[in-house]
Amino acid sequence: MYFKIIIIGLIFQLANATLQSRARQNFNCDDKINQQIAKEFEASQIYLSLANYFGHDRVALEGFAKMFKHSWKEELEHAQKMIEYGLLRGAKVDTPSVPKPVDSKWLEMNTCQIVDYVLNLEKSVNDHLLQVHRCGESDPQLQDFIEGEYLKEQVDANKELSDLLSRLERTTMHLKSDGTKTSLCDGLGLHIIDQELSKKFA
Ligand SMILES: [Fe+2]
Repeated sequence: MYFKIIIIGLIFQLANATLQSRARQNFNCDDKINQQIAKEFEASQIYLSLANYFGHDRVALEGFAKMFKHSWKEELEHAQKMIEYGLLRGAKVDTPSVPKPVDSKWLEMNTCQIVDYVLNLEKSVNDHLLQVHRCGESDPQLQDFIEGEYLKEQVDANKELSDLLSRLERTTMHLKSDGTKTSLCDGLGLHIIDQELSKKFA
């Protein structure tokens, strides 16, 4: 009986075993780093889903497909960079569980609504980066990493997507019979913007 308890104890210890880092110093943000890695992977999956949607022959917006393919790879790089940083600091880096996007969601949205969705996605990623930054309040090196490698790029993405949405709305503006204007987010205006994106992300 006593022997059995020892064996169970050993199994329990092994199941909870973690590698203790030698390099680790003044670092206490494992959870935040792991959550950020998961967020970057989640964003990359959404961008992959969007690249596939815009690349379909019934949508055929090549420029948007290229832009989202570019974003897909960029988010994977962000995740990779965060993993490398976690390992550098001796963090317990988890392999994230990444949800599958609902691919059919895009069918219910026009391109302007999709760009607005993506803008909010980038803002939520940025919100979490700011949480990682706050976690590093007494860790100047972590804050320096987040500021140098992520925050500038995030504010640039917010501006770029906001500009794109404004241009999309303007070029697809339609004058209604009652004199009011509405953006259809389709037609020649959408085609022109798509051509611009196709050149930009060639
Ligand atoms: Fe990112």
